[in-house]
Amino acid sequence: MNVDLTKRAAYTDKTPYEIWQQTEGVPIYRGLAIDDLRTVELKPWSRKGVLGAFINLIGAGRACDSYAVEIPAKSQTKPEHYLFEELIYVVKGRGATTVWNESGRKQTFEWQEGSMFSPPLNTWRQHFNVQGDEPARFVALTDAPVMINRFRNLDFIFNNAFGFTDRFNGEEGYFNGKGKAIEEHRTWDSNFIADVPGFRLMDHSKRGQGARGILLHFSANTISAHIEEYPVGTYPRAHWHGPGAHILILSGEGYSLLWEPGKPRTRIDWRPGSYFVPPAKWFHQHFNSGKEPARYLALKPWGFTYQVEDLVKTLEVESAGGTQIDYKDQDPEIHATFIAECAKRGVEVRLKF
Ligand SMILES: [Fe+2]
Repeated sequence: MNVDLTKRAAYTDKTPYEIWQQTEGVPIYRGLAIDDLRTVELKPWSRKGVLGAFINLIGAGRACDSYAVEIPAKSQTKPEHYLFEELIYVVKGRGATTVWNESGRKQTFEWQEGSMFSPPLNTWRQHFNVQGDEPARFVALTDAPVMINRFRNLDFIFNNAFGFTDRFNGEEGYFNGKGKAIEEHRTWDSNFIADVPGFRLMDHSKRGQGARGILLHFSANTISAHIEEYPVGTYPRAHWHGPGAHILILSGEGYSLLWEPGKPRTRIDWRPGSYFVPPAKWFHQHFNSGKEPARYLALKPWGFTYQVEDLVKTLEVESAGGTQIDYKDQDPEIHATFIAECAKRGVEVRLKF
């Protein structure tokens, strides 16, 4: 049963979103990072009919949230629809999802570990675990905090009959994985990706030596994602931007440095399954000190197809009006630490500047 946000007194230090989520009865993970999304403990979530937890990392600000769900073997979530966008990435298992609205035909598609998709805004969605012996788990990024905080009416958010037929109206093949590459924007526009860990990337050397990456847009969403990959023995340049870019490590081992300008650096060590968010306006820099290419997926509350905020220029250096620090301008201690970390693991440093 929903808490009634329309009758809450004003002048509380909790947002309507926070008041709502406390009544959902599942764990709320906070802090800077989740060590391993694949094993983080989840509890029964009656709204969804499966196990779950909220993930409200500090860096999300109030721009977005994240949640994880696990569907036991041969089970399924309850059908749901809601007035906020979400991006879903499958971290474990195999299953299928059915999506529909009030007027069009139901569309069902299958997914597996590494798949990514986004049920269009306010469509009905139900997720099924088709394996008989293994749980299936996914993580999602949503803009629920923004929508719930603005409207303060859960009936409007969770029981709204409006159909965004401009985004989806039961079209056949909507989730067939076909898409469109927009080379000049380093973007792939689609509604379903079967294999994010193996997805083809494009040159991204403006961010890092040898780096490759791609921006991902789904289901006419405002929110978006991207993949980046760094070769062995390298790291990208530092930069900063707004809140909410949730980074999920897909492969490789290394560490990231996060720092507020002029303040000490915080270090996060990562491996596949690690999940963290650089706070707004904090520099962040990711170091591949491991023996294989490091690939991550970033889930973000902003996108580039439909812009809604002032986006900073993260690929330009500060003297050109951007927020990136070139290798030659960074604190020399950063490179010295990288050399030491690579030496510990017997990795040759390939980055040259
Ligand atoms: Fe970033």
